[in-house]
Amino acid sequence: MAVTGAWQRAARGAGLLDADGTVAATIFAEMSALATRTGAINLGQGFPDQDGPPEVLEAAIAAIREGVNQYPPGRGMLDLREAIAEHQQRFYGLHVDPEREVLVTAGATEALAATLLALIEPGDEVVTLEPFYDAYGALIALADAVHRTVPLRAPHFQPDLDELRHAVTDRTRIILLNTPHNPTGAMLPRETLELIVALAHEHDAIIVTDEVYEHLTFGEAHIPIATLPGARERTVTISSGGKTFSTTGWKIGWLSAPPALVQAILAVKQFLTYVNGAPFQPAMAAGLRLPDAAFTGIADELRSKRDLLHAGLTAAGFTVSQPQGTYFIVADAAPLGFEDAVDFCRRLPELAGVVAVPITAFVGETHRAQYASLVRFAFCKRHEVLERAAAQLAGIGR
Ligand SMILES: Cc1ncc(COP(=O)(O)O)c(C=O)c1O
Repeated sequence: MAVTGAWQRAARGAGLLDADGTVAATIFAEMSALATRTGAINLGQGFPDQDGPPEVLEAAIAAIREGVNQYPPGRGMLDLREAIAEHQQRFYGLHVDPEREVLVTAGATEALAATLLALIEPGDEVVTLEPFYDAYGALIALADAVHRTVPLRAPHFQPDLDELRHAVTDRTRIILLNTPHNPTGAMLPRETLELIVALAHEHDAIIVTDEVYEHLTFGEAHIPIATLPGARERTVTISSGGKTFSTTGWKIGWLSAPPALVQAILAVKQFLTYVNGAPFQPAMAAGLRLPDAAFTGIADELRSKRDLLHAGLTAAGFTVSQPQGTYFIVADAAPLGFEDAVDFCRRLPELAGVVAVPITAFVGETHRAQYASLVRFAFCKRHEVLERAAAQLAGIGR
């Protein structure tokens, strides 16, 4: 029996539908399996190898013990929604109403899925930056929309403003941003965000902004686009606790948006998961209420890891970009004689006992060539692991 259906669109949207109609494994799964098989250091998939703040972990354990184990409310526990609102006020001066303007989701992924499925009509266009997080391509395709992209080019990975102007038209329903940006580590400056707001007004588009790395920044402060004049009323701001608190497996995410948008997104979200992660919700509230110093501590710790890996990759002979945020770094393998990063990543365990992912995993079919030799390394690992990786990578060029 031929199994047809929307899965084919999703797989094609993520660039995973093979010519024979089967779904290829994602490069992340392939590379993680390679790391397991070879015992190589896994700097491919972005998950931390250390636990986050003990207050957050303890709050989850306490919640389970106290019996917080049944369905939470559909919008998320009020205490967490209040903590999200307090967080938006404390860090960005944004006032959001926890009753009507906040929705708790199963990670940022569900927030993205529910938002795109709720707001798109078939044939609408969605503009994203490129490279893009792989779920964007799949979800845009599932929603039967057309995916337009604006390229980010090495070494600074900032969009060209004319290309941005060109990509957004009256057909655009959503401009989907990600800042700080995975996989490049770039952060969008105010000037670019202002243009996006102006374009959204001009073409009556909704702005969806994925800010899951909002606290993982190394100098420049993160600017939520919702803080710009004229943005808030047409913006869905998405984040999650997985990155900030090293709890990627908990899948507690959230969004804030004007009430009518939240209502529309909730109408879809309630039939995706309904709710999730009851005992993790109060734990995330505890995390969001940690003092400022805890957040700067997380970023400072990560910055020292970035510097360690940056120095190691540079010494090994790569051309290395300087990420402003996230826990990813992009390195060009071409100076080492490797023009094809997919091939290079498959050989990296044997060459250096390290696993990484090619940037082409984040790029659509048409633009692969300009990213062909670029590799993403994750630096959310213990110092000693990064030191070992750097020492092993140093052997490649020799
Ligand atoms: C840009 C971006 N958005 C969303 C997610 C998914 O977040 P969550 O695990 O909260 O669903 C990730 C995770 O890697 C990401 O890098």
